[in-house]
Amino acid sequence: MNDVAALSTMPLYTSLDRIERGLAALGIGPGDPIRPEQLFPLDQWHYHGADAVAAAARALGLGPSSHVLDVGAGVGGPARYLAHAVGCHVTALELQPALHGIGVDLTRRCGLADRVTHRCGDALSYPLPPASFDAVVSFLAILHIPDRSRLFSRLAGVLRPGGRCYVEDLCQRAPFSPRDLRDLRAVVCGVTVTGPGDYAADLTAAGFVDVVATDLTDDWAPYAAERLAAWRQNHGAYACVHGEGAYAAQERFYSVIARLYDSGSLGGIRLEAAA
Ligand SMILES: C[S@@+](CC[C@H](N)C(=O)[O-])C[C@H]1O[C@@H](n2cnc3c(N)ncnc32)[C@H](O)[C@@H]1O
Repeated sequence: MNDVAALSTMPLYTSLDRIERGLAALGIGPGDPIRPEQLFPLDQWHYHGADAVAAAARALGLGPSSHVLDVGAGVGGPARYLAHAVGCHVTALELQPALHGIGVDLTRRCGLADRVTHRCGDALSYPLPPASFDAVVSFLAILHIPDRSRLFSRLAGVLRPGGRCYVEDLCQRAPFSPRDLRDLRAVVCGVTVTGPGDYAADLTAAGFVDVVATDLTDDWAPYAAERLAAWRQNHGAYACVHGEGAYAAQERFYSVIARLYDSGSLGGIRLEAAA
């Protein structure tokens, strides 16, 4: 089971009022209606934001009749994108009650509550109806989940025959130094970050077929470096709106990630598989 308390202290999951502050900067007050695309710079907590979710929708052949499970939904960014841009019905499963609550509110304000159902719980144990989804997606969440084999067995069970799974996540390319491993655990909350082969083997062992792993490191490493540089450049403006503490927490997270890529130990991976 996940340690929710530990996870909720991770820099990415603190200063959650940054979303409302970001909306306020657009002139959108608490409770006001929102256009989903106004949220994309704020609610997509993975590489390449809404573009990555659009690519997943294309690869999975999703359409308005598709039922999708999003594992580790965060504040619901990918789920709302799929509902808004593709018309899918999405179940957004998120462990942290605070993020779940923000997601429910944002989805309602986007007018997407008829297509996005938010559920709060642990993907390792939350009851999900068997053989009920056409696709499972997960962006940058499985690294946090301690028992990946169990997770994949559960995901195989909730997919309809022929249903597909699409995951983007961190992986290990070379042994982590003791310092890197410490930061991976403490700052990134990466509890399950393995080599691509082990990752794919867990899918196969859970019953998935046609497993395809794509190495995204050459794309994600420069993205992480540019993200850090842009973050530092925007220091004054961000701290002015959100405070120095919020700036520093995120700076720590971005700088650790950039260093882990630099050291050659961290990588990015996409896994696609069929049930
Ligand atoms: C980096 S965020 C990504 C959020 C979202 N997928 C996105 O791309 O915007 C990872 C999310 O996974 C959630 N998570 C971690 N372990 C989980 C679990 N066992 N069950 C459900 N959600 C989990 C975390 O709470 C966090 O919100």
